[in-house]
Amino acid sequence: MSDARNEAGSPAHVQVRGTVLTVRRVDAYYAMTVVAPGVAARFRPGQFVAVAVGGPETSMLLRRVFSIHDVRPDHGGTVEFIFATVGPGTRWLAERRTRDVLDIAGPLGRPFPLPRDPVNCLLVGGGYGSAPLFPLATRLRGRSCTVDFLIGAASADRVFGAMTARRTGRTATVTTEDGSLGGRGLVTDVLSQVIHEGRTDVIYACGPMGMLRQVTAVASRYDIPVQALVEESMACGIGVCMTCVLPVVGDDGVTRMVRSCVDGPVFRGEQVRWNDIGTIPFDALGAPGWKPRPQAKPRPAVSRPAGPSSRTPADGAGHDR
Ligand SMILES: Cc1cc2nc3c(=O)[nH]c(=O)nc-3n(C[C@H](O)[C@H](O)[C@H](O)COP(=O)(O)OP(=O)(O)OC[C@H]3O[C@@H](n4cnc5c(N)ncnc54)[C@H](O)[C@@H]3O)c2cc1C
Ligand code: FES
Repeated sequence: MSDARNEAGSPAHVQVRGTVLTVRRVDAYYAMTVVAPGVAARFRPGQFVAVAVGGPETSMLLRRVFSIHDVRPDHGGTVEFIFATVGPGTRWLAERRTRDVLDIAGPLGRPFPLPRDPVNCLLVGGGYGSAPLFPLATRLRGRSCTVDFLIGAASADRVFGAMTARRTGRTATVTTEDGSLGGRGLVTDVLSQVIHEGRTDVIYACGPMGMLRQVTAVASRYDIPVQALVEESMACGIGVCMTCVLPVVGDDGVTRMVRSCVDGPVFRGEQVRWNDIGTIPFDALGAPGWKPRPQAKPRPAVSRPAGPSSRTPADGAGHDR
């Protein structure tokens, strides 16, 4: 485990054996609640857990990572995550039962930065990507921000949290590709309209990479900052293997390959080079043939007091930790 520590000097994350409290079906997904007081106590919205799968004899050596959807004080502290069954690890998890024990590490990654002032926040989620937006919404409302939801998926059973969004959001707009719930189409089809109606100041988004890229493109037309939670494949989840790198432009204008597990998973949308994900761009720091630019002057950081947009992807300025 990494020895990252929080401001109080205690470990920022822990590795525990957590007892499964419940595993239940929620439409196309599973919701798993695990007793893990150390993880629950440290959690900030946007962070994730890394779960060992397959049991002690398994050939599945890598942990699987999931955004934390909810923490509760019951049983000393529980953590809930929502998952789709897509492969052997998640299928194994879906077969766990109450009182099974899981090896779980967390909370990992940098949380969503929170605005300093009460602003209008739009939370955009695709599929199970809306799961981490609900604890964020609670924190934002605690800071007197307004919260609008825009969530969608391929079909009604893959929209996560529509009822909660309608109950707790100032507004909740739902789209499905097949039209089985809400408007037919993609969340990005109606994004401009929702931004106008909600007078959005900042967008928080989580979902497939294509959705995040498109949300960032639309938001940039209105000069609205986007905090995007990316789902880049991860192996270790703690910053040692470099599996999860993606190209991100820093405030100095230099592209760096940064690790989404420890430098993210939340990044400023406009700083991610969405079209170059999966590659090492030739102009990225340290890329083959890259040469340092002589006397490159750092660009002054742009200050936007109304929102969290003045932060670099890797700094923690303004995080409510
Ligand atoms: C920050 C983050 C948050 C995530 N949150 C959720 C969530 O809330 N709910 C959910 O269902 N899934 C989430 N995922 C994706 C989840 O980690 C994968 O679906 C899961 O690891 C697949 O494991 P598997 O053995 O079933 O499938 P396999 O495809 O067999 O996985 C094999 C390997 O590939 C990696 N992998 C496969 N698909 C993905 C993917 N989409 N993203 C990242 N790594 C992948 C796994 O970590 C594993 O090491 C998240 C991923 C990241 C990076
Ligand atoms: S997953 Fe290993 S460095 Fe990020």
